[in-house]
Amino acid sequence: MVIISLATILASHVARAQGAKAMSELVPDTMAITPALIAKGRDVFRNHGGCAVCHGMQLEGGAGLPLKKAKWKDAGNGDLASIVRVVSNGVPGTLMVAHPNGINEERVVEVAAYIWAVNRGRAKP
Ligand code: HEC
Repeated sequence: MVIISLATILASHVARAQGAKAMSELVPDTMAITPALIAKGRDVFRNHGGCAVCHGMQLEGGAGLPLKKAKWKDAGNGDLASIVRVVSNGVPGTLMVAHPNGINEERVVEVAAYIWAVNRGRAKP
């Protein structure tokens, strides 16, 4: 199944990646981001990932930065790999911790795909 294999492949890449260099080699196939994967990511964002508490239900921001935008502070140019990296590593010294709420790498990839898709106009928040 395409959705599961994308998440599994990305998750194993992320798990193997030990640092920024390895992560930058991760070039996910964004064409494989399906509505089903986005829906999973939305669920992570709003529910067990706890992201919406700080980033807002519409990604409008709050205690955390807005996540619907063209200019990113931590996540490079907002490409999928950079969003995955921020959620996986966190931003040291800020409220943005690695793996918020203890989500695993698979959930990290799902929620990153959701944020990416909203920013590319492929999904609603
Ligand atoms: C306790 C509050 C909090 C929670 C919960 C939280 N974040 Fe954050 N997040 C932040 C803050 C604060 C920043 C900005 C860090 C900085 O100052 O650079 C941030 C930054 C980010 C960025 C980078 C924004 C940019 O402009 O580059 C992304 C992406 C992100 N968060 C995604 C998530 C996701 C996905 C989750 C849930 C799995 C999550 N965050 C949970 C507070 C939070």
